[in-house]
Amino acid sequence: MKLSRRRLVQSLGFAASNALLPMPVFAQSRVHNELRIAPLHTGEISGGSLRYDLQLQAGSRQFLGGLNTPTIGINGSFLGPTIRLRNGSDVAMSVLNNLNEPSTIHWHGLHVPAKADGGPAQVIAPGETWRPSFQVMQKAGTFWYHSHLLNKTGEQVYRGLAGMIILDDDESESLEIPSTYGVDDIPLIVQDRRFNEDGSFRYVGMHRDVMTGVFGDRILVNGTTSPLFAPAASKVRFRLLNAANARTFNFAFADGREFSLIASDGGFLEKPTMLRSIMLSPAERAEIVVDFSDGNPVDLISLPIDGSSPFATIGMMRNMQPTNTESFTILAIEPQSTLQRSADLPDQLTSIERILESEATRTRKFELGMPMGMGMMRGGGGGGRGRGGMGGMGGEFLINGRPMDMGAINEVVAMGSTEIWEIYNDSMMVHPFHIHHGQFQILDRDGVVPTADEMGFKDTLKVGPGQTARFIMRFENFSDPDTAYMYHCHILEHEDNGMMGQFTVV
Ligand code: C2O
Ligand code: CU
Ligand code: CU
Repeated sequence: MKLSRRRLVQSLGFAASNALLPMPVFAQSRVHNELRIAPLHTGEISGGSLRYDLQLQAGSRQFLGGLNTPTIGINGSFLGPTIRLRNGSDVAMSVLNNLNEPSTIHWHGLHVPAKADGGPAQVIAPGETWRPSFQVMQKAGTFWYHSHLLNKTGEQVYRGLAGMIILDDDESESLEIPSTYGVDDIPLIVQDRRFNEDGSFRYVGMHRDVMTGVFGDRILVNGTTSPLFAPAASKVRFRLLNAANARTFNFAFADGREFSLIASDGGFLEKPTMLRSIMLSPAERAEIVVDFSDGNPVDLISLPIDGSSPFATIGMMRNMQPTNTESFTILAIEPQSTLQRSADLPDQLTSIERILESEATRTRKFELGMPMGMGMMRGGGGGGRGRGGMGGMGGEFLINGRPMDMGAINEVVAMGSTEIWEIYNDSMMVHPFHIHHGQFQILDRDGVVPTADEMGFKDTLKVGPGQTARFIMRFENFSDPDTAYMYHCHILEHEDNGMMGQFTVV
């Protein structure tokens, strides 16, 4: 797509202000590519259920000029179709692994039986088909699916094994909000990547990549580099999914315009909340509605995460992660010359019953640790504990002093119970803590209750350096003493190097 004059002026202005920031590493391309929108996969009726055929396959893409990047994807070369589910449906997934390596597919955020969850125990060998089935039993929202192979999640997601899930229910269908997929309801799978000179992805290359997680210097949205989107309606709903391995994005618009947050990880907020920025760490989602009726082009950007943020990396680790202290463009937006007029957002979206602390029968405590990182901080030269254990690639990542062990069930939760989980981050950087099985409500961080934007259901929460965060969750419907669910840091290099544990519901 060609650039309008207005847009050119705007991006030059942006580049100039960017030059004042330290270490700008993002190449701001002036040539835009039309934003890709993944096809919808609505399933096929088969018996009494909906069957979704998914095929993991190898391929290649040209992200950079004429260079081929070897990739993997689902029903395509990179990423996968958007799976559309409906509350109450019986779903039969059929996942054929056509790769020449094992993999898994996990339904992130879905409330499903442990055997159907697609965690590291549900390995799909090359050539095999995995057929989990489940009933959809939750409210409308934006979820996703991705590889969860033990020690290899980061690498497989990096190469392309991820996609979005959109779940509808009676409520979402009755609300007058933008909901035409690809027109005014737009998936935005946001990732950063870096490349070798031959065009291949450059995944973990050095110790720092494991410590901080892998950061890239190119942004991909739905697998599109330098993407441009041209709205045809005055209001557009963006389903933001941070599908990066490690980077936290601080989403905002370059002109500072407000937008309405309507949903978080697990579905709608009670009421739209006006914001000017929203920070999403890896795996978090947000649905926002943005007004383009002024017709002006604007960039969706990521703002720097400055030192005053409770989620900023601190101490010497901050110098290891210089690439999140700058602004950069995520998506260029240029409204079409005539816009279809959208309705005003409703005042009320849903109702959310708060889970009371008094319902909880138990509080479990989890401590997230990076002793190697701390060792580096203290010793200044990397003399920390545990270097040998991880082959010198980044030390240990621990929960309650232990790395992930497939042979250990770390926690056993009583079916039907409500619990408080208290997560203490004993390190210098944020960890997005994620739990399988269901959605929770955030109680507080260091005693402070969250603001309106975090009062909906969540499955991943940011825990800043030194913070203690608490959430409350009901463990219900599915029990299985033999198959575990996972909880882990969603910085995939941390997860792959030990910051994960297992629990059963019995
Ligand atoms: Cu998004 Cu355990 O994963
Ligand atoms: Cu998950
Ligand atoms: Cu982490």
